[in-house]
Amino acid sequence: MSRVTLSRYLIEQTRSHNTPADLRFLIEVVARACKAISHQVSKGALGGVLGSTDNENVQGEVQKKLDVLSNEILLEANEWGGHLAGMASEEMDNAHQIPGQYPKGAYLLVFDPLDGSSNIDVNVSVGTIFSVLRCPDLNGCSGDIGEEAFLQPGTQQVAAGYAIYGPQTMLMLTLGNGVKGFTLDRELGSFVLTHDDIRIPQSTAEFAINMSNQRHWEAPVKRYVEELLAGQEGPLGKNYNMRWVAAMVADVHRILTRGGVFMYPRDSREPDKPGKLRLMYEANPMSFIIEQAGGASTNGYQRILDIQPTSLHQRVAVFLGSREEVERVTAYHQA
Ligand code: F6P
Repeated sequence: MSRVTLSRYLIEQTRSHNTPADLRFLIEVVARACKAISHQVSKGALGGVLGSTDNENVQGEVQKKLDVLSNEILLEANEWGGHLAGMASEEMDNAHQIPGQYPKGAYLLVFDPLDGSSNIDVNVSVGTIFSVLRCPDLNGCSGDIGEEAFLQPGTQQVAAGYAIYGPQTMLMLTLGNGVKGFTLDRELGSFVLTHDDIRIPQSTAEFAINMSNQRHWEAPVKRYVEELLAGQEGPLGKNYNMRWVAAMVADVHRILTRGGVFMYPRDSREPDKPGKLRLMYEANPMSFIIEQAGGASTNGYQRILDIQPTSLHQRVAVFLGSREEVERVTAYHQA
């Protein structure tokens, strides 16, 4: 059978699931931007792209040169096509307006241009995460877009995905009917469908958490991780393995591929912040993908996709992956 490229997959989606043409175009543009980012990332020291800038982002994190470059690539690629009403990025304080000379469209694009960027300088996988929402009519999509237009629960996402820049560059995508994985064929310059209908095993023997924060966790997380570490002799009756790449894209990609549970709980270091990860740029798109692959995702108390955001850069605790384990750690929070 001939290879299915991303373009062909999207056109077939239009035929079988009425995917609108402008959404199809949007995904193609984002995929093209991810190819450009992949190219920049792969240059490393040869491209002069390693290292930090002198700036901090709205989260107070020092921006890497590649954070800034990736952000610019995504903005420029998506400004002119007429498919977007506005954009928001983890790297920008406020919503980004479509320049006045271009037409506006019905969608909002939200992204983390380079997730896990502390890994860049040590040549470990990083990625781009994105989420697509409809611009709500009540905000009027033709004028300037304010933050409130973006503050929609994750259930409202019409598409989400991530690109992982690892040994291979891959694009994982959901349009709300399952998860597909595409691998970048660098000779053709196309993303080719290589992972059809991705499903996460319901149970797992693998977990991902930054153990160095253990002393700061809340009681339910301490209890759960102690039980995982107790292995076969403990209450869960099996041995668990642990992996932590420290790039959400890479950790979630592993879980999507072979199962597992990913956790970034809230902790006592910053008691006023409910976790480290960002709801709009990281947790919502990843939760949409994980649920579409048959997994589950909560903040310990409720489904992440049901959370009503109150600000663009809101943080959230995250427990996602194989259903059985996510349900267990969620139940411990509710006990
Ligand atoms: O949001 C940034 C991020 O790099 C995630 O991609 C990753 O899961 C997490 O932070 C790693 O955090 P830490 O450095 O605390 O392990």
